[in-house]
Amino acid sequence: MYSVGIVGTGSYVPEDVLTNADLEKMVDTNDEWITTRTGIKERHIAKEGVPLSELCYQAAIRALADAQVSPEELDLVMVMTVSADYAFPATACIVADRLGAKRAAAFDLEAGCSGFLYGAATGSQFIATGMYRTVLIIGAETLSKLVNWEDRSTCILFGDGAGAAVLQRVDEGYGFLSFELGADGGGGELLIVPGGGSAHPATAETVANKLHTIHMAGSEVYKFAVRVMGETAVKALAKAGLAKENVDLLVPHQANIRIIDASVKRLGISPDKVIVNVDRYGNMSAASIPVALDEAVRAGRIHYGDIVLMVAFGAGLTWGGSVLKWARKGLQG
Ligand code: UT7
Repeated sequence: MYSVGIVGTGSYVPEDVLTNADLEKMVDTNDEWITTRTGIKERHIAKEGVPLSELCYQAAIRALADAQVSPEELDLVMVMTVSADYAFPATACIVADRLGAKRAAAFDLEAGCSGFLYGAATGSQFIATGMYRTVLIIGAETLSKLVNWEDRSTCILFGDGAGAAVLQRVDEGYGFLSFELGADGGGGELLIVPGGGSAHPATAETVANKLHTIHMAGSEVYKFAVRVMGETAVKALAKAGLAKENVDLLVPHQANIRIIDASVKRLGISPDKVIVNVDRYGNMSAASIPVALDEAVRAGRIHYGDIVLMVAFGAGLTWGGSVLKWARKGLQG
């Protein structure tokens, strides 16, 4: 098996910003509640008519430029999302076409907020086995289009964005050292868009009842998140043969600052090693980790040989963790 790592990153968020003050005018909430309960101050929202594929494309061209890889070199394009352009065709096909990735296979993968790590695990297998040389993975969401803007318990949480990474072979012993993935479908109804699929196809009634929007049992998801983030991180580190002391940077799923803080405390990792941007973006689901990773790279917070721990939880319920030994030698463009 070949060693596989990230050789380029890119991210994109739409320009429109929705602040807590804006939300105060829309639902019965206030900046103090949102800030203390979630740590979120603002989130970016895609304009009406802007589909997920546009965000994916913008993140992808940045990642390809960073990796100095041309679209023609791509063997596979994967989009991880719960807010695709269409039920079908896959958004990855639309993005690959727009990029001009003529040789690439393309598919979407859905694992909620754990999507990017599920995608990294899946995409890297194709390279580890020698089947492909270059894979583009994109975690992206336009959750603003799935939110019930009258439900204050969910509409304050989510934001839109996309993060992409180019995967290739790297020096032996570098790149992804472990993946730890899991799922518990028994908790699926805790975080769900119940309408519009084959269980409840769209009708005037499902739309009137807002079944096409996000429904969440927030405190149940919260308890699950705190438990699983710590457990998954420990398992991912053990699989890589490493301990928490070896971690140079933790990139957790950005859902809620309280979940991040509680998990970091349980893990016993120093807070200065943790990437946090939930205050500026809210919860971008599958985009959250790749956007945070890209920002960390561009801010010079990740260096060659650093041990990066990524951990996520999300709808499904799903969870994922990965340990990465950074193989890049720095930005190439
Ligand atoms: O990526 C996975 C996605 N999901 C998550 O990460 C969600 C995980 N869960 C959470 O982050 C938290 O559960 C929330 C932030 C969603 C909620 O925080 P909480 O501390 O669990 O609050 P709660 O749901 O227990 O609600 C407490 C109170 C309730 O009022 P009463 O019943 O005590 O009178 C809510 O009605 O806060 C009220 N409330 C609000 N008040 C002002 C709920 N939303 C709001 C709001 N503004 N936006």
